[in-house]
Amino acid sequence: MSYQVNEKGYYGVFGGAYIPEMLYPNVKELREKYLEYIQDPKFQEEYLQLLKDYVGRPSPLYLAERLSAKYGAKIYLKREDLNHTGAHKINNTVGQILLAERLGKKRIIAETGAGQHGVATATVCALKGLECIVYMGAVDIERQAPNVARMKMMGATVIPATSGSQTLKDATNEALRDWINNPTDTHYIIGSVVGPHPYPDMVARFQSIISEETKWQLLEKTGTSSPDYVLACVGGGSNAMGMFYHFLDDEHAKLIAIEAAGKGVNTGESAATTLLGKEGVLHGSRSIVMQTEDGQVVEPYSISAGLDYPGIGPQHAHLHTSKRALYVSITDDEAMQAGLELAKLEGIIPAIESSHALAYLSKMEFKGDETVVVCLSGRGDKDLSTYMTYFGL
Ligand SMILES: Cc1ncc(COP(=O)(O)O)c(C=O)c1O
Repeated sequence: MSYQVNEKGYYGVFGGAYIPEMLYPNVKELREKYLEYIQDPKFQEEYLQLLKDYVGRPSPLYLAERLSAKYGAKIYLKREDLNHTGAHKINNTVGQILLAERLGKKRIIAETGAGQHGVATATVCALKGLECIVYMGAVDIERQAPNVARMKMMGATVIPATSGSQTLKDATNEALRDWINNPTDTHYIIGSVVGPHPYPDMVARFQSIISEETKWQLLEKTGTSSPDYVLACVGGGSNAMGMFYHFLDDEHAKLIAIEAAGKGVNTGESAATTLLGKEGVLHGSRSIVMQTEDGQVVEPYSISAGLDYPGIGPQHAHLHTSKRALYVSITDDEAMQAGLELAKLEGIIPAIESSHALAYLSKMEFKGDETVVVCLSGRGDKDLSTYMTYFGL
C-alpha cells in the first residue's frame, strides 16, 4: 500500500484541496511548482546548508539511559528541542521561506498555537528580510507569552484571533481569511501537515529530515536502522510525519502517534481527534475532524497549545484507517507527570506537547532489549509558567 500522496492530492480518501475560489490561483501555483523547486539541486543545497549552519542539524539522537532503565527498553530521544528556536517547526519554515523567495512573494503570513511555528516563521522572515504577520488565538497569546515576545522582537506583527475557543483552529481561520484578501503578494506558511494539497506533502517532505537522520544515527549506534517502535505526539501532525516518513515502508517499525486527551477523552474537554472525530473537511482538506452531529467543528481542549486542534493531517487519517500507525491519547495529567519525570531522570525539560509522547512509554510493555525512538519535538522553556502553576513551583 502507498502511504504517500497520489497525483490528485489524496492519501486514500483523505486530502484534496477544498478551498474557496479566491484561493484557487495561489494553491494551483504552489501545486504546480513545489516539487520542481524543492527538488532543484540549488534549492536542496541552500536548504541543507541552512539546516546545518543556522538550525544546528543534525539534531542528536540521544540514548536516555536512566529513562531506559526505568521502562526496560533502549529509549532514544530525537532531540528536535535542540534546534535553533527550540522545536522541529524551523525545519519547515526554512524550506517554505526558500520556496516563497522563488515564488517572488514579499509578505509572509502564518498561524500558530504554541507559538513555536510563529517564532520559527518570524525567524526566517528576519533572516530573509520579509514582512511577517502571525495569527494567534487570544488564549494562546496568554499561555505562550514568551513566544509572543520573541516574535515581536524579530519584527513580526502578532494578531490575536478572538473567535471560537481563541486557539489554533481560530488562528488558522484568520490566516486563511488574510490569504484570500491578499492573493498576489502573500505566501501562507502553514505550520503543520494540514491544509489543502500540496501543503501536507510539502510540510512532510521538509520535516522528513527528522527520520532521514534518525535512520543513519541508529545504524551508527545500534548496527541497524530499523527500530522496534517510533513515537511522536500529534497536533496537526508535522513532527510525527517527519519522524515516521522514512519508516513508513519499514513494517518492522511500529509507529505510534500520541494525541492529547485533555481532561479525559469523554469529558468534553479533549483533543483526541481519531477517537472523537469522524470524516470531514477542515482548513482545506478531507480528514478526520471533531464535529457535532450536524458537522459543526467541536472546540478542542488540551493543556498543550500545540496539540489543541480538532483535526489531524490527511496523511495521518490515512495511516490511522489503514492501521499502519496506532493512534492513542494521553491526558493533561499524564503528560505533565512525564515532563517532570524527564526533567528529573535526564535533565531535559520537554515541551508539554513532547511530554504527551513520553507519557505513552508507561503504557507500553517491553521485552527488554527493544529499541524505541521518541521524537522530542521541542523544549519546555515556553511552558515554564504552565509547569510552575501545575506543580506549584
Ligand atoms: C514542541 C511542539 N511539538 C509538537 C507540536 C504539534 O505540532 P505538530 O503536530 O504539527 O508537530 C507543536 C506545535 O506547536 C510544538 O510546538
